[in-house]
Amino acid sequence: MTDWEPLAGRLAHEALAEGAPTAWFDRLYRAGADGEVDLPWDRQAPQPLLAAWAAAGELSGAGRRAVVVGCGLGADAEFLAGLGFATTGFDIAETAIRTNRERRPDSPVHYTTADLFALPAEWRRAFDLVVEIFTVQALPAPVRPKAVAGVRELVAPGGTLLVIARHAGTPPAEADGPPWPLTRTDLDSFSTADLAQRRVQQVEDSGRPSRGSCWVAEFERPR
Ligand SMILES: C[S@@+](CC[C@H](N)C(=O)[O-])C[C@H]1O[C@@H](n2cnc3c(N)ncnc32)[C@H](O)[C@@H]1O
Repeated sequence: MTDWEPLAGRLAHEALAEGAPTAWFDRLYRAGADGEVDLPWDRQAPQPLLAAWAAAGELSGAGRRAVVVGCGLGADAEFLAGLGFATTGFDIAETAIRTNRERRPDSPVHYTTADLFALPAEWRRAFDLVVEIFTVQALPAPVRPKAVAGVRELVAPGGTLLVIARHAGTPPAEADGPPWPLTRTDLDSFSTADLAQRRVQQVEDSGRPSRGSCWVAEFERPR
């Protein structure tokens, strides 16, 4: 077992210095796939806060479409597919998407490579449930508003956006990330005149309690 986090820090800082803030993700997954380090963000179970949110709302996806932004190694997308959603999981890292397809050749999830900053036109307002977990916080401040706008655009009329992110009381220094936990102002930036914030909670993450608390925020687009 080789911890991937030190390599993540190094690759991220190199990519940021190159002015290519998303270039490090695939480099990191590739190092994992090549056995240099463990695969990053590799979990089999859904994010506990997503699972708790779904259970509390008795979430059912029959006849509905879901998308997982920056789906990584797929545990959250598989979970939503298991609830009956026709689920798309997309990630900018080709290696993550290829790993998902190889690991689960019979998965009902549509895994595809896509960039939050250049989404396919047909995804605009197409999903009844949009799940964003820890992706926006992995992107530096100058591009974060564009990332937030991309997430927002995926939500269909009548649809829900769920954002799970680490909590920050004050804006973290750029040198301290990634990740850059989100402030309340960052979280509020997901809502617009036609995407209303319905609920914001600050909760402990039983998965990684040492990392502090998380935001669990729900937004809704009117029909
Ligand atoms: C911190 S990881 C979190 C992965 C997963 N959501 C989880 O919770 O385990 C961020 C993920 O977002 C992906 N990502 C980063 N920028 C992206 C972009 N512009 N478009 C799509 N995916 C992106 C990365 O490749 C990575 O898989």
